Amino acid sequence: MKEIAVYIHIPFCRSKCNYCAFNSFYADVNAQKEYVKQLINEIKAFSKNNIMRADTVYFGGGTPSFLYQGGIKSIINVLKDNFYFEPNEISIECNPESLTQAKLDEYKESKINRISIGLQSASNELLKLAKRAHNFDDFIKALDNCQKFGFDNVNCDIMLGLPKQKIQDVQNTLNEIFNYDIIKHISMYGLKTEENTPWQNISVDEELSANMYDVAFLMLKDKGFNRYEISNFSKLGYESKHNIKYWKRQDYIGFGLGAHSLVNNIRYANSDNMVDYILGKKEVLVLDQRQIEEEYIMLSLRMDEGIDLNDYKKQFGFDFKEKYFKQLEKLSKLKVIEITPNNLKIVSSYMGVMNSIITEFFI
Ligand SMILES: C[S@@+](CC[C@H](N)C(=O)[O-])C[C@H]1O[C@@H](n2cnc3c(N)ncnc32)[C@H](O)[C@@H]1O
Ligand code: SF4
Repeated sequence: MKEIAVYIHIPFCRSKCNYCAFNSFYADVNAQKEYVKQLINEIKAFSKNNIMRADTVYFGGGTPSFLYQGGIKSIINVLKDNFYFEPNEISIECNPESLTQAKLDEYKESKINRISIGLQSASNELLKLAKRAHNFDDFIKALDNCQKFGFDNVNCDIMLGLPKQKIQDVQNTLNEIFNYDIIKHISMYGLKTEENTPWQNISVDEELSANMYDVAFLMLKDKGFNRYEISNFSKLGYESKHNIKYWKRQDYIGFGLGAHSLVNNIRYANSDNMVDYILGKKEVLVLDQRQIEEEYIMLSLRMDEGIDLNDYKKQFGFDFKEKYFKQLEKLSKLKVIEITPNNLKIVSSYMGVMNSIITEFFI
């Protein structure tokens, strides 16, 4: 039976953060219930024609923990009825202020086994500046509740390069996180200025942001958080199974507003406009071999394990070292890549400039 990763998009948030361009907005409980009805119809329609095993499930957003009480459970029940359902991992993105005990009880009952909490920073001043709807105490309460309900696989999102953020702030944030054994995973993102957000015109000090990354990298390593992808660090065995599937270009199906899917090398995108989404409008993008290969190279090199050259040959029918002989010669001289008979990866200290290395292969 075909194995698939399932993504569910919940586009609701209590309020909008200054930097965020994700497809998310405020909606009251009635509007949320209407949306969930549509989502459930979409899941049922898909599984009428496809019998698949849901291997991982990821509720992303927006803020899935902001969905009305019982909403997540009802979606999981529909997945159970429409997929062969014994997932290895069910993750949910949460914000501290909406992760109540009642929600955690619902998630536990629904067999969710990975909680991802957006903290961004332990500084209340920075949280306020970014218009986050929580303070640091809310995060601690949410974590204590996770512990109480027996969740032991928690991710925490943090951000670098925020306006007024200092290296000391990043150090404090990590030290606070390190106090909690249940945090097994940290995602760390440099601020990107996004169009049509209140922060679209601010300038990010990229050099300071890169320094923050380097300082954080060493602190994380010291505490046993291994980097396995440029923005993702975990204790051994706690890597995100769902996200690894994205990066390895395995098949995934996305349900919900603006959700994307990759099935048999065809990319699908649901409309990100609610009316069109409800009408079932989808964009379909059939990738050609070159596009597939570029995605493969980029996603593999973003991961610390790099490119498995045997797997590359199996997928594309070429010997990577022969095809990219010139590029490999140049990059080897610069000492920015490591090549073994079966593997190619970027030298750890050059991961920060990976984009310029990766584009060498995009001839
Ligand atoms: C889907 S988003 C939000 C999940 C959740 N609602 C929250 O706010 O924590 C996942 C993560 O992306 C990161 N993020 C969002 N916008 C960003 C931006 N403009 N630049 C860098 N990171 C961003 C934040 O760390 C956020 O937690
Ligand atoms: S960062 Fe999270 S909480 Fe803030 S607007 Fe974006 S999705 Fe919503």
